[in-house]
Amino acid sequence: MNVPVTLADHERLAQQGMEPGAWAYLCGGAADEITLRENREAWQRLQLRPRVLQPLAGGHTRLTLLGRTQAHPILVAPMAYQRLAHPQGELASALASAVLGAGYVLSTQASVLLEEVAPLVLGEPARGPLWFQLYLQSARDDTLSLVRRAEAAGFEALVLTVDAPVQGARDRERRAGFQLPPGIAAVNLPPPVQRPDTRGSLFDTLLRSSPTWEDLAWLRGQTTLPILLKGITHPDDARLAVEHGVAGLIVSNHGGRTLDTMPATATLLPDIVAAVGGRVPVLVDGGIRRGTDVFKALALGASAVLVGRPVLHGLASGGAHGVAHVLRLLIDELEVAMALCGCRTLDQISSRHLCG
Ligand code: FNR
Ligand code: LAC
Repeated sequence: MNVPVTLADHERLAQQGMEPGAWAYLCGGAADEITLRENREAWQRLQLRPRVLQPLAGGHTRLTLLGRTQAHPILVAPMAYQRLAHPQGELASALASAVLGAGYVLSTQASVLLEEVAPLVLGEPARGPLWFQLYLQSARDDTLSLVRRAEAAGFEALVLTVDAPVQGARDRERRAGFQLPPGIAAVNLPPPVQRPDTRGSLFDTLLRSSPTWEDLAWLRGQTTLPILLKGITHPDDARLAVEHGVAGLIVSNHGGRTLDTMPATATLLPDIVAAVGGRVPVLVDGGIRRGTDVFKALALGASAVLVGRPVLHGLASGGAHGVAHVLRLLIDELEVAMALCGCRTLDQISSRHLCG
């Protein structure tokens, strides 16, 4: 292949250079990977219905999200251990996102220090939002220490991931015998003191202190940062979340990595948008690989999208430049999709642009 011209090209390039175990971790999904495949196919199945002869001059992809204007509706999803894809890991993906005006969400399980990532992003004038993804830790003091560090470093919101109290069944990873190589770790967390005692039922061991809605209420009392919940797929949970004062929701099935046979996020999104009724912004991730996918997500009522694995593919194929190129392709494709559908701004995109 010469020059990659699509996100799929970056994926092929990335796979060529990567160790099979790391590839299984970065790209795999849970169990039979039905949700992983479905995420992709559901966007592909949706069909666009363009309007013609609409005025397009002066168009743009800007939006305001949580009170801040950003250049386009694309953010980089939180993903653990990015140094598996490239030695610079999150430093490279964060810098490229900032330069391209994309939002950046740093994982709790990042492989570089959050204090090193934040200044890279905050120093870039064109940057998008900078958010910290939080996994509630079993000790509240450990959670609070992460929150205080994220606040001090300049992160602008917390993304609380609620769909993974345990890991999904990562069969592909286990078959590949994947283990974190020496030197790559979740460096923002205290080192694990001992292996959790996993004898007995999951519910009596690992899940003894699994988070609940009460922990969300507690977290809200501890910080003034806006909190978004990531991993909301049920309209009842969407309503509960809004009642708990969250600033936004992210419809996500964790990129098909947790509970297999959940529907695609494209399928889940409309019910969540309806349940929220415009009270807070709804974002979505999972299987977004084309500008037309971003357009379709907005047509279904999302305010913005997050992109996961393609960023790791760009990182693996070309470091910061690779990530920048992946984001550039997606932004360019979104502009083309808008123009061809007759939309000069994001708020003109509606369900009227979809068939059915
Ligand atoms: C993830 N995801 C994730 N989510 C999260 O909240 N915290 C995390 O640490 C991680 N880690 C992680 C690692 C890897 C390798 C992947 C691929 C994904 C899920 C991620 O934020 C997002 O929901 C999905 O990746 C979106 O789907 P696509 O775009 O990858 O299809
Ligand atoms: C994953 C965890 C880190 O998806 O969220 O690998």
